[in-house]
Amino acid sequence: MTTLPPPARAFASDNAAGAHPAVMEALHEANEGHALAYGDDRWTAENSARMRELFGPHATTLLVWNGTGANVVGLASLLGPAQAVICTNWAHINVDETGAPERILGAKLIDLDCPDGKLVPEQIEDQAHALGDMHHAQPGVVSLTQSTEIGTIYSADEIAALCETAHRHGMSVHLDGARLANAVAASGRSVDALRAMTVDAGVDVLSFGATKNGLMYGEAVVCLTARAAMVAPFVRKQTTQLPSKMRFVAAQLNALLRDDLWIDLAGRANEMAMRLYERTVDIPGVVHDTAPVVNSVFPHLPADAIRPLQEWCFFWDWHVASHQVRWMTAWDTTEDDVDQFAAGVRHHLLG
Ligand SMILES: Cc1ncc(COP(=O)(O)O)c(C=O)c1O
Repeated sequence: MTTLPPPARAFASDNAAGAHPAVMEALHEANEGHALAYGDDRWTAENSARMRELFGPHATTLLVWNGTGANVVGLASLLGPAQAVICTNWAHINVDETGAPERILGAKLIDLDCPDGKLVPEQIEDQAHALGDMHHAQPGVVSLTQSTEIGTIYSADEIAALCETAHRHGMSVHLDGARLANAVAASGRSVDALRAMTVDAGVDVLSFGATKNGLMYGEAVVCLTARAAMVAPFVRKQTTQLPSKMRFVAAQLNALLRDDLWIDLAGRANEMAMRLYERTVDIPGVVHDTAPVVNSVFPHLPADAIRPLQEWCFFWDWHVASHQVRWMTAWDTTEDDVDQFAAGVRHHLLG
């Protein structure tokens, strides 16, 4: 095993990072005196206004505790009776939420094979055959993840094409944006890019992830249709996602939205993933299928190197059979972290 010192921050997950100092400061500032509960406070009002600047005047934002909850609330605000959700086989709602959408929403998930983590319009067309047949769950919502669980991103045009197809068949579109900021940072780093891949593309409801991008906790559900906005407050409470001391979620998110900090932090994480790729791509035994687009790298390693390297500096297995692992960067990953990690991998593999 390498005797080099491990980096200060490992590459397990963007969830492993702490909260950004501006977020901690915002929490401290919001901790002044009393404020009415359940969102009747000035921080939540500021948040709603700020989110409307981002997503347009018709956006209604609901703050929630976590990403699984944001997905459940978002989907619940779109689903009708006997409707199903079309998603990819990789979707977080499908593989990493312990069946929460099925249990809480009572809805079938139709998970489709998508080798690159992305749905295509033809798959929606294929599923539309079930519409009107009372023996089939009715495909009612198409759920996309941006950026995807396997580190790819949809272009704004691809999302628009999916929305057009879904809407033509009377379906709605939900976007799991746990890492939407990383997709924006990889697509022009601008609010225009955010708009193009969400509201302009025709997405109906999305989650705007923040916990992975510098918050201590909290996510936002953004409803872009009047009907979803009407239903969502009720399902948020029913599904236990209504924080009573809402001001603390709002204050954190406001700090992240100030001066586009959310784009800068996600961009930083993306850059560190690219650096990690560049620092390891020539190490014999490390095989990268592709260069990273956002903040995750999925190399294959020699089988017997994985465990010792994980013991030295932890990261997760990804596809065990092909010895593939996941290295993930976060908003606080530094150049030194990357360089030290890459040096350790090199040292271990070259002996
Ligand atoms: C794509 C995606 N969606 C949603 C979530 C939400 O997760 P949590 O409920 O842990 O906040 C995650 C977290 O890993 C995720 O990767």
